[in-house]
Amino acid sequence: MQSRREPNRTTSSPSPDFGARAARYDELRPVDENWWELFDTLVRAGDLHGRRVLEIGCGTGALAVALSERARVWAIDTSPEMLAVARDRAGSERVGWRVADATALPFRDGWFERVVARVVLHLLDRPRALAEAHRVLAPDGRLAIATFDPAHFDRYWLNELFPSLERIDRARFPSPDVLESELRAAGFPNVELARVSQTAEITRDVALAKVRGKHISTFDLIDGAEYEAGLARAEHELPDPVRYSVEWLVVAATARSR
Ligand SMILES: C[S@@+](CC[C@H](N)C(=O)[O-])C[C@H]1O[C@@H](n2cnc3c(N)ncnc32)[C@H](O)[C@@H]1O
Repeated sequence: MQSRREPNRTTSSPSPDFGARAARYDELRPVDENWWELFDTLVRAGDLHGRRVLEIGCGTGALAVALSERARVWAIDTSPEMLAVARDRAGSERVGWRVADATALPFRDGWFERVVARVVLHLLDRPRALAEAHRVLAPDGRLAIATFDPAHFDRYWLNELFPSLERIDRARFPSPDVLESELRAAGFPNVELARVSQTAEITRDVALAKVRGKHISTFDLIDGAEYEAGLARAEHELPDPVRYSVEWLVVAATARSR
């Protein structure tokens, strides 16, 4: 399937290409115990069960489908390739999938009780996307977000291999303070922040497959020479297993009553 560049209005740097990573996304970023722990935390923080929910930047649809067992779910993404994988997922018929941009949602004002966004805010023009989330939420509706806490980038397992990766991701992912003030400006006066700290262990082969498959979009933003040098070092230096921590920020924000 032909790949397509994704819109990224946050910087003038090249945009990550999710179309190109759709086919292997689930293999390289699997739904595992940590995924379910974060899912349960998001569901609780966002009070998502039994609600009319929109997921923005749904990717290959794991969250939307899992949630659709207990909620009425719509899910949008700009990448037709990611959505094609989502539509092939078991249970996908329960979700209303749409190719759409989070900054121009094809839904009427106040249509949803909840909006959820997992690992996508760093890719968006956040003031516009948060204003759109607010527009489609009913009065007192709730926005639930999972994103990486700045602590995630302190000792990430790829930092030493790819020296510019940490700087790029610290600049892309909003700090809790920035996110909170962006949410307030977009009409979410009540913001609750929580942190989820996880540990992960993967075999050296799995770690190498992730690097070779450029499993995180940050790989699209480092130059080719740095990538090749880091991959060569990874092939020589990665231990077996690779252990690392994953530091999440979970945010629940309630929309101001209209
Ligand atoms: C890192 S992936 C996360 C996917 C999924 N939420 C997950 O947790 O696995 C980010 C997703 O956001 C999508 N995306 C990027 N910019 C977007 C935008 N402006 N509007 C909607 N989706 C967007 C990408 O196509 C990609 O599928």
